[in-house]
Amino acid sequence: MAIKFNPILRTLLVVVTIFLLHVSATQGGGRKEVISGGWRKTIGLWKPITNTTDPKVVEIGNFAVDEHNEEEKTKLKFQEVVKGEYQVVHGLNYRLLISAKDGNSLHNYLADVWVKPGGKSRTLTSFEDCGSYPLNITNSVVIALGQFVVDEHNKEVKTKLEFREVIKGYVRPHYTILYYELIVYAKGNDSLHYYLTYLQREIIGSKPLVLTSFEECDSGNESNVRCNL
Ligand SMILES: *[C@@H]1O[C@H](CO)[C@@H](O)[C@H](O)[C@H]1NC(C)=O
Ligand SMILES: *[C@@H]1O[C@H](CO)[C@@H](O)[C@H](O)[C@H]1NC(C)=O
Ligand SMILES: *[C@@H]1O[C@H](CO)[C@@H](O)[C@H](O)[C@H]1NC(C)=O
Ligand SMILES: *[C@@H]1O[C@H](CO)[C@@H](O)[C@H](O)[C@H]1NC(C)=O
Repeated sequence: MAIKFNPILRTLLVVVTIFLLHVSATQGGGRKEVISGGWRKTIGLWKPITNTTDPKVVEIGNFAVDEHNEEEKTKLKFQEVVKGEYQVVHGLNYRLLISAKDGNSLHNYLADVWVKPGGKSRTLTSFEDCGSYPLNITNSVVIALGQFVVDEHNKEVKTKLEFREVIKGYVRPHYTILYYELIVYAKGNDSLHYYLTYLQREIIGSKPLVLTSFEECDSGNESNVRCNL
């Protein structure tokens, strides 16, 4: 059934719609409102940030990490903005892929920051660890990685550990390098142990895999906290 609006009603509807869109863009620069459905187009297109070392961009990256640390009581250390985009709303929305250190390991985080008009006030609307992917531990490539870390460790310190299985694993891409964290289960002289290991590989070129760390992380107990990646 077609509804016919009279001109006044139609004008009113348009005004109300514009008002609602404006409110949605104003309230919190909210991520949900901004990215959901076709609304994005109405409010503003996302444009790439061409210079991620621009002090203004770096400052927003720093702000996102500081704010997250404060909110979640973490101690992440900002490294750099890897890439990013922005969107003109009521003020500016920034979405930044940030590299930060959590202890010794590098993570990528995706942060949304809303800079209010005038630029004086900013809000962190979202912050999530995004650069870490769980590995399929039954995949032969992952098993080969587990075998590699044990072999490499044996060579380096002249031991004779026997690789048994990969318990858990993650990979984090960062530029052209893949950082792997693996927990492997291996047999020593008489007992089985868990080992927390780090290795990395260049995606481009034919550089070999490099084992960067290998340490026992328990006495055969999977729930040991140091084994929890
Ligand atoms: C990016 O910004 C930095 C700092 O302002 C500047 O030194 C550098 O030349 C800029 N790079 C490009 C490609 O514009
Ligand atoms: C994990 O890898 C195995 C062997 O390649 C495959 O059969 C299985 O479907 C994979 N599992 C997932 C969840 O991808
Ligand atoms: C196995 O025993 C030998 C001799 O006692 C020792 O030197 C070596 O470190 C042990 N290896 C492991 C993996 O514990
Ligand atoms: C592993 O450690 C946890 C916590 O310390 C403990 O509760 C559990 O009983 C241990 N399991 C084994 C098999 O030793």
